Amino acid sequence: MADIGPCYFVIFGATGNLATRKLLPALYQLEAAAKLHADLRFIALARREWSREQWLDHLRDSLNEHLDQCCEAKTFARFADRFDYVAGDLNDPKTYRRLMDELSKPRPGVCENIVFYLAIKPSDFLAVVEQLNGIGINRAHGRHRVVVEKPFGEDIDSARALNAQLHRYFDEDQVFRIDHYLGKETVQNLLVFRFANTLIEPIWNRNYIDHVQITVAEAEGVGGRAGYYDGAGALRDMLQNHLMQLLTLVAMEPPATIDADALRDEKVKVLRSIRPIAPQAVHGQAFRAQYGSGRVHGKPVIAYREEGGVADGSVTETYAAAKFFIDNWRWRGVPFYLRTGKRLADNFSLIAIRFRHPPQLLFHETGAAHLDPNWVVLSLQPTECMHIELHAKEPGLGMNTRIVKLNASYRETEATTMEAYKTLLLDVVEGDRSLFIRFDEVEWAWRVVDPILRDWAQNRDSIVSYAAGGWGPREANRLFERDDQYWRNEI
Ligand code: BG6
Repeated sequence: MADIGPCYFVIFGATGNLATRKLLPALYQLEAAAKLHADLRFIALARREWSREQWLDHLRDSLNEHLDQCCEAKTFARFADRFDYVAGDLNDPKTYRRLMDELSKPRPGVCENIVFYLAIKPSDFLAVVEQLNGIGINRAHGRHRVVVEKPFGEDIDSARALNAQLHRYFDEDQVFRIDHYLGKETVQNLLVFRFANTLIEPIWNRNYIDHVQITVAEAEGVGGRAGYYDGAGALRDMLQNHLMQLLTLVAMEPPATIDADALRDEKVKVLRSIRPIAPQAVHGQAFRAQYGSGRVHGKPVIAYREEGGVADGSVTETYAAAKFFIDNWRWRGVPFYLRTGKRLADNFSLIAIRFRHPPQLLFHETGAAHLDPNWVVLSLQPTECMHIELHAKEPGLGMNTRIVKLNASYRETEATTMEAYKTLLLDVVEGDRSLFIRFDEVEWAWRVVDPILRDWAQNRDSIVSYAAGGWGPREANRLFERDDQYWRNEI
């Protein structure tokens, strides 16, 4: 792994949820692993009128809360030493003049490259890039980069408009559209699993696969993010990007090479092949719901509508499920079921591929009459692992079978989310774009979900509620094509 080289790394939204939960812990871990260049400096930018010392107190507290272990004193001192803090509103030109003052301070060794990391609400992206243009530091000297989080836009039209505006101020090779799921180990390993094993490829198609399911379940609720989330909902927040990216990696053809564009070309082909959902088909292919109160991990939790910042009577979905068909030679007729939700029983993310039943039930007259089909299971959370489920005979008399899991895991337990951001942050600085999203991917992914968004926007009278702490509403089962299909809730 290379180091993050000398540069300024400006964090917009430094006190926000994303920076606090993911970005700053990942940067701290890179510091602990000695992966940050001596001449790398951070500028934290947020609205609160804090001094640098107040910012550093906040930084220490939030790292202690979000890292597995408390910060180590020496590492924290090194990390803290790199920071300056700029207070100000994102829409106020004064903020950017202050930023410019910081960037202009003579600091031998710190070069002119700047990474602008927009850990802010998507609706604020444009204001920031316009202001950066206003002070002339978008295309100026050095290799400046802007990192934008998902969702990119809120539908296909707004995504196109945002992209056009972004390109007025930054060239495409300066824009890094991040989807941190692509930095997760299991997700990257999926490519190796598929394309480095001749065993897998011949059966990875409609002839052998019954269906694919992708689940990203979270135990957490909306937390302090209602301001953003209540206007977005689970479909925009998770399904259009994270889950859709996982779908493309499961379904794509082998790329010509492993370079960024070859990979992204194949992902786009998958998105383009997804059968458009007709307005009258939305009910049968998509489902939404919202969490009520309940108990998660044994603790009582409030309903979504009672969370601070959620609009009265909000019908924003915190659970979204959808069924897609990919109309190409490999996948025609194979349903891809995607679901995601907050305040479910556990943090649990899984890609599960179910194979077809054998053509003949040879063991019909024996105890093994009802064989579950084979599964390939790739787990992202709580553990990163991969296994193939096969049937084997139980030792002893009789013809009883049991499921044997061929474990293809490369490690057993480790928190994954920090890893994802660490990998991607290194890539930004090195300019490796393979794990970042090209605009046509964004555009096609919106095209796939737009009919659902439009239907849900028109039907805002009510929404199904589910008790927090379970696996979501039973009504989501209506997406299944057949009675023997079911959501897999365990690894
Ligand atoms: C973010 C979403 O992109 O991903 C959040 O905005 C969600 O709502 C998070 O909680 C989940 O990420 P992870 O890595 O914890 O599964």
